Amino acid sequence: MNSGDSVTVQGVLAAGGELRVPGDKSISHRVAMLSALAAGEGSIAGFLRSEDCLCTLNALAQLGAGVAVTDAAITVGGVGGRFRAPAAPLDLGNSGTGMRLLCGLLAGQPFTAELTGDASLRSRPMSRIREPLERMGAQVALLGEGGRAPIRVTGGGLRGIDYALPVASAQVKSCVLLAGLFADGRTRVVEPQPTRDHTERLLRAMGARVNVDGLRIEIEGAGGGAGLRLPARDWRVPGDFSSAAFWLTAAACCPGASLRVEGVGLNPRRTALLAVLRRMGAQIEAAADEAPDSPEPCGTVTVRGAGLRATEVGGAEIPNLIDEIPLIAVAGAFAEGRTVIRDARELRVKESDRIATMAANLRAAGAAVEEFEDGMAIAGPAALAPCAADSHGDHRVAMAMSVLALASGKSVCVRDVACVATSYPGFWADAERIGARIEWCDRS
Ligand code: S3P
Repeated sequence: MNSGDSVTVQGVLAAGGELRVPGDKSISHRVAMLSALAAGEGSIAGFLRSEDCLCTLNALAQLGAGVAVTDAAITVGGVGGRFRAPAAPLDLGNSGTGMRLLCGLLAGQPFTAELTGDASLRSRPMSRIREPLERMGAQVALLGEGGRAPIRVTGGGLRGIDYALPVASAQVKSCVLLAGLFADGRTRVVEPQPTRDHTERLLRAMGARVNVDGLRIEIEGAGGGAGLRLPARDWRVPGDFSSAAFWLTAAACCPGASLRVEGVGLNPRRTALLAVLRRMGAQIEAAADEAPDSPEPCGTVTVRGAGLRATEVGGAEIPNLIDEIPLIAVAGAFAEGRTVIRDARELRVKESDRIATMAANLRAAGAAVEEFEDGMAIAGPAALAPCAADSHGDHRVAMAMSVLALASGKSVCVRDVACVATSYPGFWADAERIGARIEWCDRS
């Protein structure tokens, strides 16, 4: 496949679909990193074998972890707290999570490592991690223009800090907490709003000393890593709610449709989309499976579509649906009234500027969209027509515009869709499973 690949998506959502989605991307990155750091060998079931997560596994192998990938499972032999200095730069591809979290781990290691990525990742802001890591005692050089990657981290000798996060970002929070594992003393992070808490849950499940009190998270450091003993364990990664979200939203937009997704992560810091779709009129049931020992809740979601009405989305809700906002914009095109999304300026620094790219694509499909610096408003229901959309290399934009096709029955030709493999390699097969017809153009 080449980066110029385009698809035409057409079809109508099957009346009663059932799906399972691949493993959670955020959790896959984190369990790989924690397993690589641990003492001993652990297996990861349900690991997301997407480009982003495989970049993280490769980087961990370069740092000395024993990574074995077979059809059945992924096993990681951990380094027991001390990574090896990498012989070459670590390439994190398209992955902001991979890059920002690894910088936190590397800040605790007494050597220099360089991290790089693709053009999109090298255009994203990285000074947000340099500031706290340098306060802890690491040296972080941003080698790209204007505070961007490549990044050179020289770690070791960290001290715990108190850090008030200037942006609600789980990636920055996690970077600081992972560095805090190696620091002398306690590291305290205060979030402006609650963000996904996978790092806290998984660190705790490994026996790290993490305390959470509202928006304040504290981790006790092991001082230079010498005292760091995190025993390896086996993990099971739940399905990715952000991947399930494509199908759940498609069903919500189609009156009479019903769709069930099993085995999907139901961490409440990830599922705010469900509350939004309910407000818009969709009928939704979400039930967690009984799994008392699992650090992450997982279960089944069923959505029944309806004629939707517009809603407003903003404030503290935003971090808990940040990756689903392109889909809320799509749902807005089907809803009666003006759907307004605010407080979402972080979207401008994702894999693309998702406010600009989604506004342009929805306009191309026939929707009236007003763009704000921190969001957008969509007038609905829009008179949608067949159109061409451009992903701008952003996986979630490519998939959201495919959902628009599936929910409207109007064909959408989506350009530049190779990026879908960064988070959801089986996306097109799953789309076909629930009623889409996919035609490839330019496929090599
Ligand atoms: C992620 C956090 C979010 C999200 C990204 C994955 C994570 O980014 O958009 O897809 O795994 O921590 P920010 O924390 O930077 O908002």
